[in-house]
Amino acid sequence: MSKTPTLTTAAGIPVVDNQNSLSAGPRGPLLLQDFHLIEKLQHFNRERIPERVVHAKGSGAHGTFTVTHNISHLSKAKLFSEIGKKTDMFMRISTVGGERGSADTERDPRGFAMKFYTEEGNWDLVGNNTPMFFIKDAIKFPDFIHTQKRDPQTNLKSPTMMFDFWSKAPESLHQVTMLFSDRGTPDGHRHMHGFGSHTYSLINDKDERVYVKWHFTTQQGIKNLSAAEAVRLAGEDPDYSQRDLFNAIATGDFPRWEVRLQVATEAELVAWEARTGWNPFDVTKVWPHADFPRIPVGMIELNRNAANYHAEVEQVAFSPANIVPGMGYSPDKMLQGRLFAYHDAQLYRIGANHQHLPVNAPRCPFHNHQADGAMAIHSGSTTPNYENVDAAGTNPSGFGHGDAGWELSGIAGRYDGRVKEDDYTQAGNLFRLLPAQEKQNLFDNMAGPLSQVNVEIMERQLAHLDQADAAYGAGVRAALRKHGINID
Ligand code: HEM
Repeated sequence: MSKTPTLTTAAGIPVVDNQNSLSAGPRGPLLLQDFHLIEKLQHFNRERIPERVVHAKGSGAHGTFTVTHNISHLSKAKLFSEIGKKTDMFMRISTVGGERGSADTERDPRGFAMKFYTEEGNWDLVGNNTPMFFIKDAIKFPDFIHTQKRDPQTNLKSPTMMFDFWSKAPESLHQVTMLFSDRGTPDGHRHMHGFGSHTYSLINDKDERVYVKWHFTTQQGIKNLSAAEAVRLAGEDPDYSQRDLFNAIATGDFPRWEVRLQVATEAELVAWEARTGWNPFDVTKVWPHADFPRIPVGMIELNRNAANYHAEVEQVAFSPANIVPGMGYSPDKMLQGRLFAYHDAQLYRIGANHQHLPVNAPRCPFHNHQADGAMAIHSGSTTPNYENVDAAGTNPSGFGHGDAGWELSGIAGRYDGRVKEDDYTQAGNLFRLLPAQEKQNLFDNMAGPLSQVNVEIMERQLAHLDQADAAYGAGVRAALRKHGINID
């Protein structure tokens, strides 16, 4: 028979009574020396940490990445070194705009964040369930997110703010089309693909760089909710996706995603850009599979639920800056902004030593000279805790990122990404790919919130749809008529 453990204070001292406070006589008042009562109330008052500024509602689990195909000619990263090699990982899947208690089935992109505990440090791939993003320059991100959050005065979500922003940012149309399609309301977290979205690079042992895009293809099959089902579930079971993922893993029905890569040399991207006019580092665009086929790399399986939601899922900290030797970034202006943003957010959200927490700590030996600070668990440094370079310039720690040289050029300036760029063809291509019923769903899904905005914004958005495909604009106009709105 299992024995219930003795209740103790945080210092491990047995608690005599957890039902009755220490009082002066049976009716009180309470005595300040009831340290257990005071500690209990104090800790309760400090139970919350700030929620993530975006992606606040999420579910997470532990899993394994297994290499199934050899890509060691592309990357010297040790996690890819041999077929069959397994690396522990942690994944968090989230909605974007809602608060920590918001409904899982809201129309929104889904975050798809992974941390791989490799022998050369943690690799974080922080993607979404969409291969593209709404904007292409990090400087627009806070403004964009403000339009997805609540109006500063009414504290209500605002279709006006959303479409005002989107209609002035035609580069958003590609992802807006995906958002209002059936893929905007996935049926739980298991039935959707994941994407690294940005262009990254891989570097091999000859220091040769290729550019890549990561794809995570669900082995559970794509399943989406209709708009009506999503709204119903938001009321009846706001934690629908979290429940589905947790229960699947708890019952041994482990979700899997195949890991694949699109690969291109710099010369291939130069030729592709010359042919298509698209900047290969613009995250509002995709690399068509016909131009860059996906090659298989491995398999991800989620096979262990987090033991404690707060310690693991809430406090996990992903950063796109975390790449290991054999990987590199790209000039993507969104990715570049993100390299700064995540660690900075986590310094505020969790604290200076958040990387010491078990879910965030590397599982390989590590050593840095970052000293002390609140909640320091590991002593990263022994003596001396400063960079110990000898007179010959040798760094005895042997620490090095291993990134290959990267030739950069250009005149520093603020280049207007809105001019002379084709933001419509790929959005139109996505629209044309949709079967008839899904096109109709897109029209109806978009017309709902669009019918609530003023005519000026509505016309501006419809003009973008017309440019992507005349049938797109016509379909949404027809759907608006069902709301009593006639815009020709
Ligand atoms: C410049 C653009 C962006 C900025 C400044 C930005 C910033 C942030 C910040 C500050 C967080 C909260 C981090 C935390 O508190 O732990 C976050 C979370 C997240 N972002 Fe971004 N983001 C950007 C674009 C993107 C893009 C393009 C994607 C996907 C392709 C993405 C995917 C995610 C995901 C999945 C999370 C949640 C990670 C988790 O589960 O903990 N973000 N972002």
